[in-house]
Amino acid sequence: MAEYLAFHYLEPSQLLPPGAPLAGSIDNFPSACAHLLLRHAPKRASRALDLGCAVGRSSFEIARRIPEVIGIDYSKSFIRAAKKVQKKGRLRFNLLEEGTNTRPSFATFPTTTPRKRTTFLSGDALHLPSGLGSFDAVLAANLIDRLPEPKKFLKQILPSLVKPGGIVLLTSPYTWSSEFTPRSRWFKDSFSTIRMALRPSFRLLHRQNLPFLLREHRRKFQFTFSDATIWQRF
Ligand SMILES: C[S@@+](CC[C@H](N)C(=O)[O-])C[C@H]1O[C@@H](n2cnc3c(N)ncnc32)[C@H](O)[C@@H]1O
Repeated sequence: MAEYLAFHYLEPSQLLPPGAPLAGSIDNFPSACAHLLLRHAPKRASRALDLGCAVGRSSFEIARRIPEVIGIDYSKSFIRAAKKVQKKGRLRFNLLEEGTNTRPSFATFPTTTPRKRTTFLSGDALHLPSGLGSFDAVLAANLIDRLPEPKKFLKQILPSLVKPGGIVLLTSPYTWSSEFTPRSRWFKDSFSTIRMALRPSFRLLHRQNLPFLLREHRRKFQFTFSDATIWQRF
């Protein structure tokens, strides 16, 4: 939990040791995803969905421009944390330094309007609540390689969620693992598989790398590049 709160609500420059060379060059990942989505979303977008929203930062960022944002995550504890930030504007957590040493830290999102425009629900991206409706913009950040049925998500779920002319931003480092996805359902060349699966309903608008730093403790980080692709519904 603390790892995700730090990942969402602290800047990489606050997390890296002082003077670390990467500090100025990596953005906060959930915020970068939201801004990339907003750059390509329809001008008059009114509804957005953040699937696998974790502790909520990208949902709040999207709600700076889009008046209704729904954030859904499988983890009830992540959703509880997102709701706490939504209610109070901040949530205290303990950031791991080393061993059992922690330091108190705060997840904050002080701007009230985006917080009011966001609804958080716990749920499964493969079995979404009926009546959710369709969206102008959908974000699925680092989600597909966590799903037991990634192809079902691409071929059956996404087309029904996105309005014609609307967009979806997928990001993933394609870290396939049998902890989440049976080996028989891993994609071999993930980008090509996604393109084939989406081809009947979506066209590719944009593709880029999105780097991120996930902090384990004060001297240990995972440095990863997500493949970010934006698709427009016909
Ligand atoms: C790697 S994290 C990415 C979180 C967030 N989007 C980000 O970029 O920081 C994957 C998230 O997807 C959630 N998740 C996994 N399986 C899911 C499912 N079937 N439906 C909804 N959320 C799911 C996890 O609880 C976790 O919060």
